[in-house]
Amino acid sequence: MTIKRIGVLTSGGDAPGMNAAIRSVVRCAIHYKLEVMGIFRGYAGLINEELKLLDHRSVSNIINRGGTILKTARSEEFMTEQGQRNAVEIIRKNEIDGLIVIGGDGTYRGGIALSKKWGIPCIGVPGTIDNDLNGTDATIGSDTAVNTALDAIDKIRDTATSMERIFVVEVMGRDSGFIALQVALAGGVEDALIPERNFDFNNLCQDIVEGNLRGKVSWIIVTAEGKARGEDIAKKISEMTTLETRVVVLGHIQRGGSPTAQDRILASRLGAEAVELLIKGYSAKALGVISDEVNIVDLEYAVAKKEFKQDRLYQLIKLLL
Ligand code: F6P
Repeated sequence: MTIKRIGVLTSGGDAPGMNAAIRSVVRCAIHYKLEVMGIFRGYAGLINEELKLLDHRSVSNIINRGGTILKTARSEEFMTEQGQRNAVEIIRKNEIDGLIVIGGDGTYRGGIALSKKWGIPCIGVPGTIDNDLNGTDATIGSDTAVNTALDAIDKIRDTATSMERIFVVEVMGRDSGFIALQVALAGGVEDALIPERNFDFNNLCQDIVEGNLRGKVSWIIVTAEGKARGEDIAKKISEMTTLETRVVVLGHIQRGGSPTAQDRILASRLGAEAVELLIKGYSAKALGVISDEVNIVDLEYAVAKKEFKQDRLYQLIKLLL
């Protein structure tokens, strides 16, 4: 089938760099003389026919902006058979020949349904701060999120050291300890709790008590939200060590801000690749970059449980204390 018009959407949690990916998709498609339909509010907006043709200038001055000009949403309706049927009807009615879906695992699952069940060619571009997809070293937004969280941790260190306190910092990551591990190593924190690893709480408290006896007075402990809430960890530490604690929940701050150069470059590379894959007739594939080379995997593989290979990072955090 010759592709004449493609659709592009962002779905799930927004990630810095999504705009750079949209820009790349639109400009690359126009280069190949394709039309691009922007689909607003992810799969929810697709069902509601929230569509607009995008031109070269629709994506001017967005490469440096966080969030997504297409807006994003999590759609329960699209999970249903009827929701998908409605979405497919809108795609056919608007003569969209292929879709580029930018997002994380939920977005990719939508792409799997549309391509495998309904025959709509779909290509996934990895956009999530969690960096939890297979087939890519990094996802768009993850580098920016790590740098945002790290900046906060550096600031927390100033007050933690000055007031000689224990801080527990909760970062994002429901099923992924990526941000927690990265900032723990880069920020020189004392410990990190992540969903992928068992954690011995008594050990941590013992370390704190022993350190305290030696004169160590401030700690920063990072926890990924999916492993344990900062509030609970801080309470337990206070109870077991009788030392004072403070909690900082970084929350959605980690999702915003201007994307780093790395995220903009990744987004610019993969947006254009996605257009070229659709033109070449690919479907149900996800893009990524591994060792600086573009990598193509099945959408199904991209969303399969990611093997945890970061144990060495955790060991380093402890070794470098
Ligand atoms: O998937 C990205 C993410 O930011 C996760 O790290 C976090 O658990 C989740 O989204 C939060 O989702 P919401 O913005 O819907 O609260």
